[in-house]
Amino acid sequence: MVIAIDGYSSCGKSTLAKQLAKRLGFVFVDTGAMYRAVTLYFLVHKVNITSIADIQSALDEIYIHFENINGENTTFLNDENVEAKIRSIDVSQFVSEVSAISTVRTKMVDLQRKMANQTGLVMDGRDIGTVVFPDADVKFFITADPQIRADRRYREATSKGQNVSLQEIMENLKHRDHIDTQRADSPLRQADDAILIDNSHLTIDQQFEWALTIIQKNQRSL
Ligand code: DC
Repeated sequence: MVIAIDGYSSCGKSTLAKQLAKRLGFVFVDTGAMYRAVTLYFLVHKVNITSIADIQSALDEIYIHFENINGENTTFLNDENVEAKIRSIDVSQFVSEVSAISTVRTKMVDLQRKMANQTGLVMDGRDIGTVVFPDADVKFFITADPQIRADRRYREATSKGQNVSLQEIMENLKHRDHIDTQRADSPLRQADDAILIDNSHLTIDQQFEWALTIIQKNQRSL
């Protein structure tokens, strides 16, 4: 079974995906983390993103995998734990440009499709229900009020000790929403058969129970 969760930045997609994967015993994949890891590599190695040849040779050097460390899904880039680094504001400010590059997307989508297994998969991102798994069994499209999203992200960032202002976070969200929805290759959009949820006024648990009920109904009908 494949569950696709797409939506705008900082809508709590990964939070929902993790909860569902845990309850259902499915594999969880945060595809945003993969684009963030590529972006970190491009920043560290000063890859020229106007050169397809440079992008391709950088991609050939990149190996991404996930490990469960103390119950937390953790991203590794070439065997280095980069979970904290990929959440930095520097990466957030550049990730939408990098993920708009078709060569990058082709490699990530290929990796993502290989992650489907026998049991089940919950994958979150921007193009999961539209491009990566257009035949996913259940698709959710998540949205929330921009101010509420920025407040949530700000609280999360400051609780992790990041030195960032609410204003910077708000601007970053607007910037990413714009590029993610306007890019030529696999823009963020709601799949025709995706279920829309605006979680502005829902608690994490309310959203989880609602999504779980929908999935269980779907499982019964399989
Ligand atoms: O989910 P996130 O905010 O960590 O994702 C970071 C960026 O990666 C997001 O702004 C757009 C890009 N992304 C994408 O283009 N396609 C995906 N499937 C997931 C993320």
